[in-house]
Order: sequence, then structure tokens, then C-alpha cells
Amino acid sequence: MKLADRLSQLGTEQAFHVLARAKQAERDGRDMIHMEIGDTDFHTPTAIVEAAITALHENKTKYLPSAGLLELRQALAKKISVSRGLAAHADDIVVTPGGKPMIFYTILATVNPGDEVIYPNPGFPTYESVINFMGGKAVPLQMNGDTGFEFDIEELRRLANDRTKLIIVNSPQNPTGGILSREKLQAIVDVAKQYDAWIFADEVYSELVFEGDFESILSIPGARERTIMLDAFTKTYSMSGWRVGYGLCPNADFASTIANLVNNSVSCAPNFTQWGAMAGLVNPTVAADVAAMRDELRQRRDLLYAGLQQLPGVQCHLPKGAIYLFPNITGTGQTSQAVYNFMFDQANIAVLPGTSFGQYGEGYIRMSFANNSRNRLQLAIDRLIKLWPKLLAK
Ligand SMILES: Cc1ncc(COP(=O)(O)O)c(C=O)c1O
Repeated sequence: MKLADRLSQLGTEQAFHVLARAKQAERDGRDMIHMEIGDTDFHTPTAIVEAAITALHENKTKYLPSAGLLELRQALAKKISVSRGLAAHADDIVVTPGGKPMIFYTILATVNPGDEVIYPNPGFPTYESVINFMGGKAVPLQMNGDTGFEFDIEELRRLANDRTKLIIVNSPQNPTGGILSREKLQAIVDVAKQYDAWIFADEVYSELVFEGDFESILSIPGARERTIMLDAFTKTYSMSGWRVGYGLCPNADFASTIANLVNNSVSCAPNFTQWGAMAGLVNPTVAADVAAMRDELRQRRDLLYAGLQQLPGVQCHLPKGAIYLFPNITGTGQTSQAVYNFMFDQANIAVLPGTSFGQYGEGYIRMSFANNSRNRLQLAIDRLIKLWPKLLAK
């Protein structure tokens, strides 16, 4: 018996496979340092946990409408209207189990076989995987480390054409930590308008910015009616396992289409986790928790960044946002995969090869600085400093 042909087009997010491998290594008695998956070790803020527990006691454990909890969508509309400087309505919002389904649903809803989709590479791997799966033509826009991973507008203009159906932007960016300036966002909107393309704006790291200010593409005039914006509670509130994310759609009709995709796939996002997420929006103690987490993350970023300066053959640029360092390792003479293997096997450190983020990720590795305390990060640095001569001698 054979599986469907289309599965040959489906990629994967490598982080989950390496996570499973590292968990197995731990079961085998190894002291693994997790830097593979983008996850924080902070507790979910207490107010969110309490609200979810209360919801469970109140029997808020049943189906919800596919678009999500109305109270949560209303609170989100209020928040987005302020943070993105626009008029958002609850009817334009769909709550999903984590942010990732919005990537799947948006590409499913906008891309016909043969349509071109421009996406960042290296970039979050689900974009390329799902574009290919839907029969779209994946058109990579290189994030070039030689120019500090600046989003190259000239290259975007060169790649865009009448077949361009969707342009994917991700700021702050995974894995490079780059942030798009207002000028660049304006230029992207201009290109999208020129070819009448949709924009998918992945803003899941919008509240994890360490340098400068976050600018949403939605604040650019003309963006709102062609942009699907993804945000999630995952990173901001340390809620990766709760699975709550959402999309802001260009209008209520578009949102109904996405809600019907939710209806057909998972019915609805879980009930009590949405009540918990809502507490994150309305309870003032949570903003303080997020600010403290951001401050700690900045210190972890700086510690790991300083540690990498001590490894010959490694060059790293300081990310302005998100939770990753993306060092260039070409100076070691090794491939991304070889460095990943070496760190996993010899140093008990789980990272990802840059190629997990697309072909232009060769020469890099990705290290999450969010999962470990500063003490554990220092331990990782110490292990690497000790073992590095062995890698260089290979
Ligand atoms: C850029 C980007 N988009 C989307 C997601 C998916 O987030 P979630 O865990 O909420 O599905 C991630 C997770 O790492 C991400 O880095």
C-alpha cells in the first residue's frame, strides 16, 4: 500500500526531531543542554495559570465556536488596535491551537498550484514546507549574513512578478533575529500592491525586541487589506505547550474562511487555555512578568554572544530580537551538519544546523538562548571552549 504522492512535498521543522533525540539522550543518562527548540524555561505567568485553573473548575472544557472565544477575540482586537495602530475587530480574528496552524491555513487559503510565494531563507521552515505541499512555487529571498541578514528590498523587487501571490515576512526573524525597519516594511507593501499579492506577517516575536522598536507592517498605509498577521501567546507568555495563537485577517469574510479551515481540521482551539491566554491580555501583573523575562533574555543573549567570541572560526552577529543566535561557523572548516553532530555527540549540547532553515542556512548553526539559565549557558560555553580544538583538528 502506498501513501499519497503529495507527502513527498512536505518538509518538517527539524527542531522537534532534535528535541526528541535530545530527550532520548537524557533518558540514556546524558546531561543535555537544550538549545535546539525555541522555547523559554520561564514559568507561564501566575495570573494566566490561575485563570486557566479557574476555567477548568468552571467546566470551561467544552467545544467553542471555531473562530475562538469571543471574549478573547474582543480583548485581542483592543490590544492589536493599540499595538499595531489600526482598527481591528473581533470578527477579523481567528484563534488557533498555537501560531503554526495560521501558516498552514493562510497558504491553503491563498495559494493555487503554480502560484509563487516569496519567503525568507534562512527562515522558519514551515513556510517552505507548506508552500511546496500546496503545490506553490517556493521562491526564497536570501537573508544574507554578509550584510547582517538585512532584508534585501532590491532582491525582493527582482523576485516579484505577476505570478507572486503571497509575500511572507517575519520580524523579528527566526533564526537571524533581524528586525524590519519602517522603510523596508513600506517597500514590501509597495511591491505587494504592485503585483496585488497578499502579505503574511509572522509577528510571534513582536514583544521580544532588545534593540530598537518593533514596527508592524500593519501600521503601513495600504497593508491592512492585504495582510494576514500571525501572533501567538507561545513566546511572549512562555506558553508553548498550551497551544494558543491567532491570526488577524484582512476582513471578517477572510476570517470566516480561516475559521472554516479550523472547523474542518481541529474544530476549535482548546477552551480553558483561551481563558488563560485572556488573563495574559487583561491582567496587569502579566506585563511586568513579560518585562522581567525580556530583561533576563537580553542578559542571556549577551552572555552567549560573548562566549561565542572565544571560539576560533565562529563569527556571530548580535540579534536585535527573537531568542536565537545564528553564528557563522565556516571558519571552522566544517559544515553546519558536522558542527551540529559534534556539539550533540561530544558536548551534549543540542543545537540546529542552519540548513534546517533552508539552503541559505549552510555555514550557520542556530542556538536558542531562551531555554537555559545563565549558569547553564555558561556551562555550555565552558564545554565548547574545552572541546573546540578537537573540532578544529577534524
Ligand atoms: C517565526 C515563527 N513562527 C511561528 C512559530 C510557531 O509558533 P507556535 O509554537 O505558536 O505554533 C514559531 C515557533 O517557533 C516561529 O519561530
